Amino acid sequence: MIKRILAAVVGLAVVGGLGFLWYAWYPALPKVALPKSGQFSAAQIERGRIVAAQGYCAECHTRQDLGGGPTLAGDYAMQSPFGTIYSPNITPDPETGIGGWSEEALARAMKLGVSRSGAHLLPAFVYDHFTKMTDSDISDLYAWLMTQPAVHMTHRENTFPLSITPRIVLAGWKMLFFRPGDFKPDPNHDAQWNRGAYLAEGASHCGSCHTPRNLLGAEKSGSRYDGAVVDGWIAPPLNEHNPTPVVWTEDELFAYLRYGVAPLHGPAGGPMSPVPHQFLSQIPESDVRAIAHYFADIDHAAQRVSGDKAALELAMQQSKRDLLGPTTDADATLYQGACAACHYNAAPSPVLGRPELALNSALWLDEPNDLFMVMLRGLTAPEGQSGVAMPSFYNALSDHDMARIAAYLRRTRTTRPPWTDLEKKAAEARKLVEIPPVNSSH
Ligand code: HEC
Ligand code: HEC
Ligand code: HEC
Repeated sequence: MIKRILAAVVGLAVVGGLGFLWYAWYPALPKVALPKSGQFSAAQIERGRIVAAQGYCAECHTRQDLGGGPTLAGDYAMQSPFGTIYSPNITPDPETGIGGWSEEALARAMKLGVSRSGAHLLPAFVYDHFTKMTDSDISDLYAWLMTQPAVHMTHRENTFPLSITPRIVLAGWKMLFFRPGDFKPDPNHDAQWNRGAYLAEGASHCGSCHTPRNLLGAEKSGSRYDGAVVDGWIAPPLNEHNPTPVVWTEDELFAYLRYGVAPLHGPAGGPMSPVPHQFLSQIPESDVRAIAHYFADIDHAAQRVSGDKAALELAMQQSKRDLLGPTTDADATLYQGACAACHYNAAPSPVLGRPELALNSALWLDEPNDLFMVMLRGLTAPEGQSGVAMPSFYNALSDHDMARIAAYLRRTRTTRPPWTDLEKKAAEARKLVEIPPVNSSH
């Protein structure tokens, strides 16, 4: 009897194992000759350029430390608590890049997260989003990639364990969390909404930063766009949980995503900055409008916008009160000395390039990450509103001072509960800002 059970268990395990192998195994696709120049029309290459900008390929496939590297040649360092992943070269170099890849191989990588060799790819290459891209977009993308300058360059050795261990392990992750498949338009919404949803969920992968992840690094499907921590910053919620007192309307979203600064909410800093400046400013305006249209629906802007006028007035009053001169509140004095000269606004609304802090998410989020990151790093001229910069206070303010300013702003400009352990959190943020930026306007 026991023997029979054992045999059954072993049998099941074998069948299960074979099933897993069947799921996990992909053949290598043959190397092909580099497509001849002239094979693609100029119009197709131009469409592909737009798709690449929609997907920020150059952001993650271009080295940024060590003084930068050639565009698309890889070696961009992605940090994780377990080690670093360096992105591969995706220029058409036949040896070190994807010059030997067929269109089929690129499509398989984008839609299924499998390299030409058959190896599973890490989800750091956001194929959980790219899988939603249409075949024709991928075909255009191929035309553009194959006509970019080939660069012979290999990336540094990964130190992330799962990129070194047999990659078949990654198939287990995919089995649990990866649902490949095309974008499904929602018939309850119009074409513009669906275009926005297609880009946001697919190529432009907004959720990869704005949706929290579980312990195994997969986006939590029940918490879509609830906000998440990225490189020490909080990518704020993009749904109705966004805490700012004025609502992200379609126009505010459009300005932010197209130009990197929203008239009421302020600038796109840190990891968000390249999204508008390097990419969404380079695609058709109607696409950016569509993304804004989609998120204005996701955050229910129309239902919430009625409170905006009162919130704006309150913010302006507070801004004015702060400039009325000496006060007995030592925190207010500290704030006036360090910040108010640039962040003062008069009614009726803030001046572009001089963010009204009472309206900025940095003060309203559950944690002070973004406020500390901005104080420590400052904002460089290419971030936020182009040409406008905020100096770094890395050397000018101690953790204690930063904590006091944060507590003061939270207390006087929001209706949210006070932040806790501010000095400790300021010290933690400081550790993430490794090289204190130079205190200058450039
Ligand atoms: C968020 C960062 C990120 C973005 C954005 C990104 N990639 Fe990647 N990509 C990676 C990483 C990291 C890898 C390597 C994964 C691994 O080692 O398993 C990768 C792998 C690849 C590969 C597989 C290469 C190989 O040799 O196996 C291709 C092809 C690729 N990316 C193309 C693209 C294209 C095209 C875009 C734009 C549409 C893009 N990537 C956008 C991070 C990114
Ligand atoms: C690489 C990570 C990353 C990606 C990709 C990304 N974001 Fe962000 N986003 C952030 C971070 C970090 C912030 C906070 C920036 C700041 O405080 O200046 C942010 C801020 C924002 C804000 C301002 C929210 C607020 O309340 O202040 C909006 C709106 C936004 N992102 C929309 C988008 C959309 C739409 C997309 C996709 C088209 C997107 N983001 C893609 C990281 C990202
Ligand atoms: C010399 C002028 C100046 C001073 C002083 C200054 N700021 Fe700023 N700050 C700016 C400008 C300009 C921007 C917008 C930059 C942009 O659009 O790129 C900004 C942006 C911000 C933002 C919005 C960041 C985002 O990503 O949304 C916050 C928060 C902020 N400042 C906080 C502070 C605090 C706190 C202090 C005092 C410790 C301070 N600032 C002092 C000029 C200044």
